Amino acid sequence: MLKLAARVGRAKPSAIMAVAMKAKDLKAQGKDIISFSIGVPNFLPGQHVYDAVQDALKHDSGQYGSNRGADALLDAFIKHMEEIGLTGYTRKNCATGIGAKQVLYNLFEALLDEGDAITFPVPYWTSYMDIAEILGAKIDLIPAPPSQNYKITPEQLDEALAKKPRVFLFNNPSNPTGMVYDSNEVAALAEVLVKYPDTWVITDDIYNRMIFDGLKYTNFVMCKPELRDRVVFVDSLSKTYGMPGWRLGFAAGPEKVIDALVTMNSNNITNVSEIVTAAGVAAMDGPQDVPTEKCKEFEAKRNLVMDVMNSIDGVICPRPQGAFYVFPDVSCSYGKTHGPTGLKIENDIDFCNALLEAKGVAVVPGSAFGEPRSMRISYTCPTPQLEPGMQRIKEFFAELA
Ligand SMILES: Cc1ncc(COP(=O)(O)O)c(C=O)c1O
Repeated sequence: MLKLAARVGRAKPSAIMAVAMKAKDLKAQGKDIISFSIGVPNFLPGQHVYDAVQDALKHDSGQYGSNRGADALLDAFIKHMEEIGLTGYTRKNCATGIGAKQVLYNLFEALLDEGDAITFPVPYWTSYMDIAEILGAKIDLIPAPPSQNYKITPEQLDEALAKKPRVFLFNNPSNPTGMVYDSNEVAALAEVLVKYPDTWVITDDIYNRMIFDGLKYTNFVMCKPELRDRVVFVDSLSKTYGMPGWRLGFAAGPEKVIDALVTMNSNNITNVSEIVTAAGVAAMDGPQDVPTEKCKEFEAKRNLVMDVMNSIDGVICPRPQGAFYVFPDVSCSYGKTHGPTGLKIENDIDFCNALLEAKGVAVVPGSAFGEPRSMRISYTCPTPQLEPGMQRIKEFFAELA
């Protein structure tokens, strides 16, 4: 029999896409659906990005490009990092890729042999688990429950690193929780990291410009510069600039790792196209009005979502300070029945199905992120849909018995 590679059997289709597709089908059937499911920014980049693309089209060479990324793109990224306090990086410390996801995939490939251990907090962004499983890595999860505001403690990190994993993966601000580790919390974790020189650190911090309440982004290397030789910072234009489909991601870190990424690029993507390169340079170098406005808008939307979540008895909802997600613990609904439809809720999947069927609101089950007590609301929908969508969630809870 013709066989596929074993790793394909370990690859899972995206649980988030499954919810999104179901919502889309119901919409196509004429149902009134409000989707809080996919983590897309729901806005487009500024006009200057499109202008730069028009201009680039006039000069397009149509040829292969650098496996690392064009100099202009690397320089724009270096400046972009400097603006958030990550200084001292040169082109040799940077590489580009087809979105953060491809950068992360390459990073995992570059750092982990089959059976090597990677440790990261749970809840986690779904692809961390999926990519690690495809590559046959050993996965060790550090619990970050709602009672800890979905954050890990230095003691937990110490315990996890004492097991000597090859890689520690950190995500700040977090998808799915929206939580942001403040500078003191990052510094306390950095203290632990310095004790374990044999563990690489990946900081997937693509929401670093979507932080609210006056908080500032902090990376481990800002607290402990000696960590620079083993921390790899991952960034992306997808969320900040409303460019998820353009596929542009970045890594910055020690030359040894970055060179490995460039080699991987040379064997899979080859290069980022000239057109996308021009768009990326314009996004990072040009006016920042769109991301600045959107960050303010998302903060206001976060407030609206939190007002409703806080008014529902039994729901535990740590207050997120970044990204565009809220991740309430809805386990108070388990064991209950939705009165008007008779739908029984035993777990997060039942909860999300019942909410979609009864109220036409699509959210993602927390188990997709390793936390079956919770569900994820992505609140980037057009503003006029947000309030009615949240009211429907509130009504749904009121109808449970
Ligand atoms: C935490 C996190 N990392 C990486 C990505 C991937 O981003 P990109 O579109 O750049 O591949 C996402 C997208 O949802 C994400 O939430």
